[in-house]
Amino acid sequence: MKLAVIPGDGIGKEVIPAAMSVLDRFNLDIEKTYLEVGYGRWERTGLAITDDDINTIKECDCVLFGAITTPNDPNYRSVLVRLRRELDLYANIRPFAPLPNVTLPCYNNKHFDFIIVRENTEGMYSGIEEIHADTAYTTRVITRKGSERIAGRACRIAAAQSSRLTIVHKANVMKSCSFFRDICIEVAKKNNISYSEMLVDAMAYDLVLHPERYEVIVTTNLFGDILSDLSAALVGGLGLCPSANIGERYALFEPVHGSAPDIAGKGIANPVAAILSVKMMLEWAGWNKEARSLRNAVDEVLKSGKTTPDLGGSCTTKEVARAVETLI
Ligand code: NAI
Ligand code: MG
Repeated sequence: MKLAVIPGDGIGKEVIPAAMSVLDRFNLDIEKTYLEVGYGRWERTGLAITDDDINTIKECDCVLFGAITTPNDPNYRSVLVRLRRELDLYANIRPFAPLPNVTLPCYNNKHFDFIIVRENTEGMYSGIEEIHADTAYTTRVITRKGSERIAGRACRIAAAQSSRLTIVHKANVMKSCSFFRDICIEVAKKNNISYSEMLVDAMAYDLVLHPERYEVIVTTNLFGDILSDLSAALVGGLGLCPSANIGERYALFEPVHGSAPDIAGKGIANPVAAILSVKMMLEWAGWNKEARSLRNAVDEVLKSGKTTPDLGGSCTTKEVARAVETLI
């Protein structure tokens, strides 16, 4: 497998090397290409990513991505949005379940285990925008193709684990949402997946109170983005949440968190989100035994209390990664 590694900025440069040193323990046949992409590069050269970088990435099978600081410049175009589009990574997949020994800050202390499957290439993030003196427009694009493939992906996940599907939308207000919902229902019926639907505002409320009610959630780009961060809070922190961006040909794996300038350079960023992103990559590549072993090692380390300060521990990023490595 060919892997492009993009640590990015801030704590991306700390958690990605930590996750890579864990991955290296498996001695898998992986050819790695490191790329400098992001804010640092943009400051030096005026470009956060080049066409050559994109071509290099397209010669690889998948990407491990840290995080990128967003410059305060209206002309800046998001690298991640570009990568998702160029690689056609239409499904953003984020699993949420409590981890051992992590205090849950939610009202509900029942066990939960759900996956958000978010459409990743269209919706409110279409990039079709206009700003005039007194009015600004963003065009929300929902296509049949985009909705069918995200619903199809969610149904495959639901079928693989015999789960229920929840279709999240705001069809009572937006016609583009009725369009999305109807297509999701069609696809669920065709695949014999049991489904229900929820309005996104009600969903936000219910996820906080009853996360145990949900298994696989499928939704549009912006709604998925927001519900994912809400769900990260349910799990106990951004430093714990991995994600996958998957297309037909390529995939990109990344921790949900950003570059965290407030703690960058201190060596205390929690590497668990990045390490669990590697676990998702191993599963995607079919290395299931290694993925299970990695997950068990992370669980054991959390149980032992060897954690970074965000979880109340006093370990550094490197110490946590080393503790995981020794259990592999
Ligand atoms: P952030 O996720 O970087 O940080 C939010 C809070 O969570 C901070 O207090 C931070 O210290 C903490 N945190 C995040 N990850 C952590 C970890 N692994 N261990 C311990 N604590 C952790 O979000 P923020 O501050 O809104 O954004 C910072 C920069 O990152 C911005 O420039 C933003 O645009 C960018 N960003 C990039 C993303 C990406 O590249 N995928 C995603 C989100 C934000
Ligand atoms: Mg986000």
